[in-house]
Amino acid sequence: MSIDITLNNGVVMPALGYGVYQTPPEETTECVVQALETGYRLIDTAAAYANEREVGEAIRRSGLDRSEVFVETKVWISDFGYDETLHAFDKSVGKLGLDTLDLFILHQPLPTDFDRTVGAYKALEALLGDGRVRAIGVSNFMPEHLAALRERTDVVPAVNQVELHPYFTQPDVQRADAQNSTLTQAWSPIGGITSCGSDSERTTFDDPVITAIGEQYGKSAAQVMLRWHLQEGRSAIPKSVHTERIESNFDVFDFQLTQEQLRELDALDTGVRGGPEPASMTLERFGMPIPEA
Ligand SMILES: NC(=O)c1ccc[n+]([C@@H]2O[C@H](COP(=O)([O-])OP(=O)(O)OC[C@H]3O[C@@H](n4cnc5c(N)ncnc54)[C@H](OP(=O)(O)O)[C@@H]3O)[C@@H](O)[C@H]2O)c1
Repeated sequence: MSIDITLNNGVVMPALGYGVYQTPPEETTECVVQALETGYRLIDTAAAYANEREVGEAIRRSGLDRSEVFVETKVWISDFGYDETLHAFDKSVGKLGLDTLDLFILHQPLPTDFDRTVGAYKALEALLGDGRVRAIGVSNFMPEHLAALRERTDVVPAVNQVELHPYFTQPDVQRADAQNSTLTQAWSPIGGITSCGSDSERTTFDDPVITAIGEQYGKSAAQVMLRWHLQEGRSAIPKSVHTERIESNFDVFDFQLTQEQLRELDALDTGVRGGPEPASMTLERFGMPIPEA
């Protein structure tokens, strides 16, 4: 069982997917094969994750028809600009071994060089126009970035993928996305970012509010958080390299949180992000080149 979401251009996408950020290339094929065997049909990768080739290999190895797997990848900022992003598409599909992508998104806004961000998005529009991608979108766009993009481009982003877990819920971004009919897709949906490299003792996985809700249903904190995303209408793309977690993170279709529990989870927001500030994204600091092959 799963839940589908219809994007603003009519394309249907599974709400719950599998992410591969920080999954080492040598483990990625095996992990993605396991995810596909478990039932995931949305895979989220990125040029910057250096594992697109292994994701493509897993799709072929799974034996599933290409049309059964929704493939999402991202253009890195060093490939922003119209021609550069068209070339980034060729690099990504070349590594994945695919002809088309289901969803192609800008990985970050580049606020210090928004002209290049716009050029990159116009390339996505061109790829959408000639059918090489089925939907296009953005990631880590704050409301001001969405507004600035909308002023200078034609196609409303189908998806905005942002950090979103109970400790950082970004209500302003969710509101702006909804006003634009853009789907909010949660990265770090179970708060993985809060448990690595953070000084805080508290993590979403042992949060007393989240675990207490889980106990009522015989579900883990991760399962409660994923259910929360689905019931609030978001897409979520949890990552794990462990079979048991890959499976349990997908076992979220047989229980229903109450409205009160959803509000309790919303109320855990601290307003503190775990990931980088989107406004701090510069080519000088983060512009590592994406290899050709
Ligand atoms: N657009 C962006 O800028 C951006 C940024 C970050 C991430 N993403 C996307 O979002 C995906 C998910 O984000 P994320 O990896 O940062 O965070 P996440 O999915 O919230 O959490 C992943 C972390 O939690 C652990 N974990 C997974 N399932 C668990 C469970 N059931 N119980 C306890 N621990 C569990 C994983 O460890 P193990 O692997 O050891 O199980 C890993 O350390 C990424 O893979 C990527 O596709 C996008």
